[in-house]
Amino acid sequence: MQIIFHEKTKTFHLYNHEISYIMTVLPGGQLGQLYFGKAVRDREDFSHLAEYSFRNMASYLSEDQDTVSLEHLKQEYPVYGTTDYREPAVEVIQTNGSRLSDLSYAGFLIIQGKPQLPGLPAVYVEKEDEAATLIITLKDSVTGLSVQLFYTIFEERPVITRSVCFTNQGCEALHLGRAMSLSMDFPDCDYEWLQFSGVWARERHLKTRNLEPGIVSVGSMRGSSSHEHNPFIILKRPHTDESQGEAVGFSLIYSGNFLAQAEVDNQNVTRILLGIHPDTFDWKLEPGADFQTPEAVMAYTCRGLNELSQSFHSLYQKRLARGYWRDRPRPILLNNWEATYFDFNEDLLVEIADRAKKCGVELFVLDDGWFGARRNDRAGLGDWTANKELLPDGISGLSKRIEALGMKFGLWFEPEMVNADSDLYRAHPDWILQMPGRRASLGRHQHVLDFSRKEVVDCIYNMMAALLREAKISYIKWDMNRYITECYCAALPADQQGEVFHRYILGVYDLYERLTSEFPHVLFESCASGGARFDPGMLYYAPQAWTSDDTDAIERLKIQYGTSYCYPVSSMGSHVSAVPNHQLHRNTPLYTRANTAYFGTFGYELDLNKLTEDEREEVKKQIAFMKEYRGLIQFGTFYRLCSPFEGNITAWMVVSPDKKTAIIGWYKTLNQVNAPFSRIRLQGLDPELCYHLEGCSQTFYGDELMNAGLITSDSMCGEYKNRRPGCDFDSRLFIFKA
Ligand code: DGJ
Repeated sequence: MQIIFHEKTKTFHLYNHEISYIMTVLPGGQLGQLYFGKAVRDREDFSHLAEYSFRNMASYLSEDQDTVSLEHLKQEYPVYGTTDYREPAVEVIQTNGSRLSDLSYAGFLIIQGKPQLPGLPAVYVEKEDEAATLIITLKDSVTGLSVQLFYTIFEERPVITRSVCFTNQGCEALHLGRAMSLSMDFPDCDYEWLQFSGVWARERHLKTRNLEPGIVSVGSMRGSSSHEHNPFIILKRPHTDESQGEAVGFSLIYSGNFLAQAEVDNQNVTRILLGIHPDTFDWKLEPGADFQTPEAVMAYTCRGLNELSQSFHSLYQKRLARGYWRDRPRPILLNNWEATYFDFNEDLLVEIADRAKKCGVELFVLDDGWFGARRNDRAGLGDWTANKELLPDGISGLSKRIEALGMKFGLWFEPEMVNADSDLYRAHPDWILQMPGRRASLGRHQHVLDFSRKEVVDCIYNMMAALLREAKISYIKWDMNRYITECYCAALPADQQGEVFHRYILGVYDLYERLTSEFPHVLFESCASGGARFDPGMLYYAPQAWTSDDTDAIERLKIQYGTSYCYPVSSMGSHVSAVPNHQLHRNTPLYTRANTAYFGTFGYELDLNKLTEDEREEVKKQIAFMKEYRGLIQFGTFYRLCSPFEGNITAWMVVSPDKKTAIIGWYKTLNQVNAPFSRIRLQGLDPELCYHLEGCSQTFYGDELMNAGLITSDSMCGEYKNRRPGCDFDSRLFIFKA
């Protein structure tokens, strides 16, 4: 891995054995983008990659530079209005009303390793030699704004991380109206754009479209990354599929409002922008002050989407998630939400936990409803002390009873919210986000606490930390069940109201940081009405996230498949729930519910006392299976094989690092009469190894399974011990061992 600066040509080349990233200083002083893609050998002069031409209608910088139009140059951190008409990376508003900037190259620094971002989640290194960082400084001589562009390249990953730090070195306050984390100009537009979109209970469905001249974008202005869009997009070549072809993935390590955008210009150049959503952002930068953007990650592959996803999985699993649980197989849990909703008392909880323990469950999680006056969702949020009518000895008493069963105990919080009917709100009605003189809109009968204010975060921290100190709590589910409206902070002056959304997220990160460092053995699972904050920012603090409130096994195939494009299996909270399913009212076989939930952190969302004896025996086997294989499933190499977005069959697989064990999950949505023969081609096996398929007398070489494929039609399944007559919502697991 190298970062090279060629002094004579003012060219930077970041490369490792997989990728190259090349930039140069352009004639006008701006930083130009020359190349990002598969590794190319270094040379002193790459300046021919910056193409210049006089074009009619192009504005240019000066009479002696009439071929230098920023509209037609590929740049690293462009501004609008000084010959470039595309959407810019940055916009700075000055006291004289001007929004113009001119950012010229001023110098650079190369350091080993990777600096952390103050107050923000970011990818990290464990050893300095894992990565190197280039910091390029640009300056605007008129405003005194200094812009530091951070680029980190890793020795062993086809990944570049980027972020930007602004410093006002002038003597007047500036406003950042836009401060993207990443801007990237690609020389053509022969790409498909992949986004991961949906809504509550239908998150991260894959949507694909061709790039055309104009703008395509996804984003959130809801205060969280949202159910609707994910801060992750992919550009892929039209012929690229899961196992071959070029693609670039862009991911933002941030949990608040974001914008991900591609603009194809009049010469088919594609500009990608990724960062905080500019429409809800305006940051006042006083003289001497800094502003740090969130971090963006770009990964490249020339070998298909599975490899691109694996780069993100490995990076986010090993160098974004942190702490005790990062590398540990996750406990099999039972959560009481769909089992009881608000209708429980201590004895019922212990009865449910006791049965769960007898089936092999390791962690009992008490969800919503245990605190304050919370007997339904209209009261109690904000009062984080146990309701003594339900739990006479408090959380401490209940947690002792659960631990006495031989299980760990976990607890639900929704720290950022308050009900009007709560002691917290009665004491501090001014602590919610609201615009004085206007209505404070509601969501799920609740208001959003103003987490941009330190005293609010401190108060919630004190309540949560007190409980964590006093009771035996091993796991926290951190929920967030509404979006932000009337985003106004009573404690900030008028010219800083554009900061509130971002300050709110910084407050959330601050609370997470305090709790995770003080209670390092507690496993945190993030949640936001299911998957409204399934983003890399959260993964830095909570290594797993509740993937969706939709627990139907068939719906989950699309949700988990879509989520897998960026996020590792170990991050996806996935549970077996009761039938008829509570969201969809669908009946699916118990084995299919488990076969889907295995590809995640695994647990149950039901009262096992309500199952039949036979079903409980099946559950015991499921739990025994997951205990044996969770290390492989959660931390092995994951491949998508057959897409639920394209047909009736879904399939995916995980392979162990030594390629000696593989598990394939195969799912059929609807049964078919007289169905065609079917097979799936496996991936990631060792072609030279001979694999035994569990429950089958035959063996198969890896090359046959990857090229001829695994027969999944019933003709072959006659061989398998676990054969069943076909039905709707059918599924199978295939376990191969070398
Ligand atoms: C939304 C979560 O996604 C559910 O799992 C559950 O915790 C409820 N909130 C509780 O209110």
